[in-house]
Amino acid sequence: MTSIGILGTGRMGLRLARLFARSGSEVVIGSRTPERARAIAARLGAGAVRGGSYADAADADAVLPALFLRDGLLDQLEPLRARLAGKPYVDISNPFNADYSDFILPWDTSGAEEIQKRFPEARVVGAFKNVWWEVFDAPHFDAGLESDVYVVSDDAEAKRSVLALTHGMPFRFVDAGRLANARVVERMTLFSGELGQRAGFFPRMNWRLLGEPWTPGAKDDLAPLAAR
Ligand SMILES: NC(=O)c1ccc[n+]([C@@H]2O[C@H](COP(=O)([O-])OP(=O)(O)OC[C@H]3O[C@@H](n4cnc5c(N)ncnc54)[C@H](OP(=O)(O)O)[C@@H]3O)[C@@H](O)[C@H]2O)c1
Repeated sequence: MTSIGILGTGRMGLRLARLFARSGSEVVIGSRTPERARAIAARLGAGAVRGGSYADAADADAVLPALFLRDGLLDQLEPLRARLAGKPYVDISNPFNADYSDFILPWDTSGAEEIQKRFPEARVVGAFKNVWWEVFDAPHFDAGLESDVYVVSDDAEAKRSVLALTHGMPFRFVDAGRLANARVVERMTLFSGELGQRAGFFPRMNWRLLGEPWTPGAKDDLAPLAAR
């Protein structure tokens, strides 16, 4: 069994701990207050979740820090640098500012790229960035429809090993290409947040790419997404 260490016991940390435990991973959830993490692990139960410190969580086979960049994610990982080396780092960060109205990073970078730059020894795979916390509690939409999780990385092997951990999760995992595509995925989250609030969906909305296979000449000359 592969273990995954989740750092942070907030909205995402809790839900991802539960999700990974249910899909068969051994989970270590870490907190700045290890007692809190141990109490949460006991509540999540099933024996597959253990609580401890950030260092305990970072000792797992793969790590998933569930902290905000604005709260000092990069500096908080600094003492754990050696523990991150050579293993998949599941990056869920969106670089929101304090009031969620914008990002603290410019358009020509992303949280994922900044993390990879700061920790080149980690094998960063962006995932779950586009899933708002509430969706994890009831992941299916309409008639059982699964929504997308866009997965980005420059490390094909790390991407494969993260995808292997997601088996059985109630989402459609989409290989969304290189790490720099996190610029798009992160901003899709900012955008869905704004649209969701306007539509009265917030925070229960997500993306799903709609499309059908198309072979030139097989149907007509229309481009695949045009005039349907
Ligand atoms: N919320 C969403 O819908 C959503 C969706 C996709 C991605 N994300 C990303 O997931 C990450 C976590 O988001 P979240 O919504 O779970 O955040 P959150 O509820 O605020 O939880 C963040 C956790 O970070 C830890 N932490 C460490 N230093 C902190 C500090 N200075 N101030 C506050 N908390 C601190 C805390 O855990 P301990 O006290 O246990 O250490 C806290 O519970 C962010 O990078 C966010 O962009 C969030």
